[in-house]
Amino acid sequence: MSIILGLESSCDETAAALVTSDRGILAHRLAGQEAAHRPYGGVVPEIAARAHVEALGPLIEAALAEAGLTLGQVDAIAATAGPGLIGGVMVGLVTAKALALAADKPLIAVNHLEGHALSPRLADPDLAFPYLLLLVSGGHCQLLAVEGVGRYRRLATTIDDAAGEAFDKTAKLLGLGFPGGPAVERAAAAGDPAAVPLPRPLVGTAEPHFSFAGLKSAVLRARDTGSWSVPDLAASFQQAVVDCLVDRTRRAIAQVPQATALVVAGGVAANGAVRAALTALAHQHDLPFSAPPLWLCTDNAAMIGWAGAERFAAGLTDPLDVPARARWPL
Ligand code: KG4
Ligand code: ZN
Repeated sequence: MSIILGLESSCDETAAALVTSDRGILAHRLAGQEAAHRPYGGVVPEIAARAHVEALGPLIEAALAEAGLTLGQVDAIAATAGPGLIGGVMVGLVTAKALALAADKPLIAVNHLEGHALSPRLADPDLAFPYLLLLVSGGHCQLLAVEGVGRYRRLATTIDDAAGEAFDKTAKLLGLGFPGGPAVERAAAAGDPAAVPLPRPLVGTAEPHFSFAGLKSAVLRARDTGSWSVPDLAASFQQAVVDCLVDRTRRAIAQVPQATALVVAGGVAANGAVRAALTALAHQHDLPFSAPPLWLCTDNAAMIGWAGAERFAAGLTDPLDVPARARWPL
C-alpha cells in the first residue's frame, strides 16, 4: 500500500489530502475562497493565487497532523499541474516540487480533469475500466470513454459554454449570486420545470456534442419579458440542461457498448436533478450508475491524491521541471 499527498489549487479551492492506494482517505482539508470572490460575482485569478499561497502550507500541515504522518512517511506527492488558472496551478505545483525535492519523494503531475475522471473509482471499488464518463464542471463538459489510467477517449465536448459555466451565468442574470450552481438548484426547488419554454440546443443531432450559450441567452430573454418568477426560470433552465445532458449521454452510450457503467463526475454532478436523470438513463440501459459523493464531485484534493495513487501504481511519475499548464486537454 502506498500513501500519496495530493494538492489542488487550480481554481478557487485550496486543498490537501492524504490518500492510500487501497482507497483510504486519511485526511482531506479544503479552504474555499467564496467570500473573497463574491463581491466580483466570479473568480478573480489574482485574488485566487494569493489566497492559495496563504492557505496551502497550513492545509498540508493540518492534513499530515490529522493522518498522524510526517512527510517522510508519504510515498509520493501529487499536484494538479493544469488545466486551470495558471497562477493558482503554479502555487500548488511549485509547492509539490519543493516538498518532493526536500523529502526526496517522487512527484506526480496530475491533470485536473483526470482527477475528476478517476474520482468515481476512489468512492466505488467495483468500478472497472472501461466506463462511460460524463464530466461536467465549471470549465468542462465532456463525454469520455475512460479505458484505463491515462487512456481517455473523448467522444464529445461543448462547442461553447460548459454546463457549470451556464449555471453560473444563469445565476448571475437571475440575481442568485455566486457560486451559481448550488444557488440555481436551491431556487429551482420552488419552481416549475415546465413553466418557461426554453430551447434544448443540439438535442437530437447525431454528434453527441453540447451547447449551452443559446440556452443562457434564452433565459435572459425570458427574464426580460417579466412573465415568470425566478424559481420558475431557474427550474426551467435546470430542466433544459438536464434534458441536454441526458440526450447527449444516451447517444454516447450507444458508442461505447463495452462500458461497464455510466459515471458522472465534476461539480455539476453535485446537482440532484442531474444525478436523478442520469440514474434513470443508466437504468433504462441496464448499466450500473456511479457518481462520487457530493464533496468528491466539486474540486478537492482527495481526487488528485487518488489520481496520483493510480498513476504511481502504473509507474507514472514526473520530473521536477514538469510545467504548469493553463490548457491541458485530457
Ligand atoms: O468541478 P468544479 O468544482 O470546478 C471546476 O473544475 O470547474 O465545478 C464547479 C462548477 C461550477 O460551475 C458550479 O456552479 C457547478 O460546478 N456546481 C453546480 C452545483 N454545485 C456546483 N451546478 C449545478 N448544481 C449544483 N448543485
Ligand atoms: Zn474541477
